[in-house]
Amino acid sequence: MAPDASTDFGFQSVPWAEKTARVREVFDSVAGRYDVMNDLMSGGLHRFWKAAFITWLRPRAEMHLLDLAGGTGDIAFRFLAAGGGRVTVADINQEMLLVGQKRAQTWRAKRRGMTSAIDWLCANGESLPIPDASVDAVTCAFGIRNMTDKAQALSEMHRVLKPGGRFMCLEFSRLALPGLAGLYDKYSFQVVPRLGRMVAGDEASYRYLAESIRTFPDQETFAAMITDAGLDNVSYRNLAGGIAAMHSAWRI
Ligand SMILES: C[S@@+](CC[C@H](N)C(=O)[O-])C[C@H]1O[C@@H](n2cnc3c(N)ncnc32)[C@H](O)[C@@H]1O
Repeated sequence: MAPDASTDFGFQSVPWAEKTARVREVFDSVAGRYDVMNDLMSGGLHRFWKAAFITWLRPRAEMHLLDLAGGTGDIAFRFLAAGGGRVTVADINQEMLLVGQKRAQTWRAKRRGMTSAIDWLCANGESLPIPDASVDAVTCAFGIRNMTDKAQALSEMHRVLKPGGRFMCLEFSRLALPGLAGLYDKYSFQVVPRLGRMVAGDEASYRYLAESIRTFPDQETFAAMITDAGLDNVSYRNLAGGIAAMHSAWRI
């Protein structure tokens, strides 16, 4: 990448080399209120989306999952509760991982054997310290739109997957119901930042989160990026009329 190249940070254009640090600041700031804000902003919808995501993944006891940008561990806990074997939660943000580690120490998680089934790894998805062909599945939920070099992150996910392994991504996407666009815009750019200010004391981070959704590629464009990274049999399913979408692909 040319040293003077720029990229999007929400609706702003920032130097390529600055984006990762700016995103890290966002998640440092929101980590403590991240889970409660997810429930508030989505009216609990994100729980149904994550449940649908795990159902499509079909966890098995012999499966080792890498959950990239795993944050506070939502996907990891759901994967294990659905019968998955082992998870590595990788995230660039130590604060988000610390919240997840605390969640893994609750008596409920311990009783269900989850505590020892999760490894927490602080790492950048664009250069993973994970051996080639070493995991059975890679998931990335609401993470890739925050990464600076998305093609490089997809290539890393392809690299660490075993042949026959599954890639799945859950991400905000392009609304397929144009009649709702105005309402959705109002909600994203007026309500979400206000909620961020009131609940997490941080309006700017939630404005970035809303803006970053709009700059992320639509379903078909993202499917093509997955194919370009070397993954096969790409398909996707919309959630809530395309507000979010799940993409699935395989390393063959
Ligand atoms: C919106 S949160 C999603 C967390 C979790 N997957 C979930 O669904 O609740 C996005 C996460 O992506 C992480 N992230 C952003 N850029 C990253 C990168 N380059 N490498 C790894 N993780 C990254 C952030 O630290 C944050 O925890």
